[in-house]
Amino acid sequence: MSNILVLNSSLSGEASVSRLLVADAVTELTQRDPNATLVFRDLAANPIPHLHPDGYAGVRAQATTPAELAARALSDELIAELFAADTIVIGAPMYNFSIPSTLRTWFDHVLRPGVTFGYSEAGPKGLVTGKRVIIVESRGGLYSEGPAQALDVQEPYLRQLFGFMGVTDVTFVRAEKIAFGPDARDQALTESRAVLAKLGA
Ligand SMILES: Cc1cc2nc3c(=O)[nH]c(=O)nc-3n(C[C@H](O)[C@H](O)[C@H](O)COP(=O)(O)O)c2cc1C
Repeated sequence: MSNILVLNSSLSGEASVSRLLVADAVTELTQRDPNATLVFRDLAANPIPHLHPDGYAGVRAQATTPAELAARALSDELIAELFAADTIVIGAPMYNFSIPSTLRTWFDHVLRPGVTFGYSEAGPKGLVTGKRVIIVESRGGLYSEGPAQALDVQEPYLRQLFGFMGVTDVTFVRAEKIAFGPDARDQALTESRAVLAKLGA
């Protein structure tokens, strides 16, 4: 039996391409493992608070004050979900060439020194192992080829964030040209669904 953590971060509700494809990914995974347990976090509807001057040390260093203890407790909860998961499915729209700030805040809470990554004489070391990550990247434009390729901060950033924690099994599903009109959107959905259908292959 596997544990699946599902994070959505699109602001667009039912119009969201990434939410549709994340749901398809979950269907695909649960068809292969009907006993899988699922934990959902909607980072857009229920945003994680930004790290605050009063409490951030609870995540990055020691927790002593009430604000630091509260930040530490939330970080503990999010990290526990991460460690418990075998597979993490993320809906990550491209916002201003990068990721939604709500998703970035999730990383701010789970990237914790001594817990999800460490430093040694050999440099940084990721402490999160044995995870599979599937990331749906919805984008208004086209970045996987052509002149805008160099503007894609989203995919390299996500790869780096997970890589820093030690997670290297990351599959990106790109749904591109969503802003090009209904036909392009339909095509992106069809192509992405074909990729998702092969997830377990
Ligand atoms: C705040 C915001 C910023 C965006 N920035 C970009 C961008 O930099 N590049 C791009 O191609 N599309 C951009 N878009 C378009 C979205 O990536 C596109 O609509 C995508 O489908 C959003 O994912 P969703 O359908 O899951 O909501 C932006 C949309 C919003 C709401």
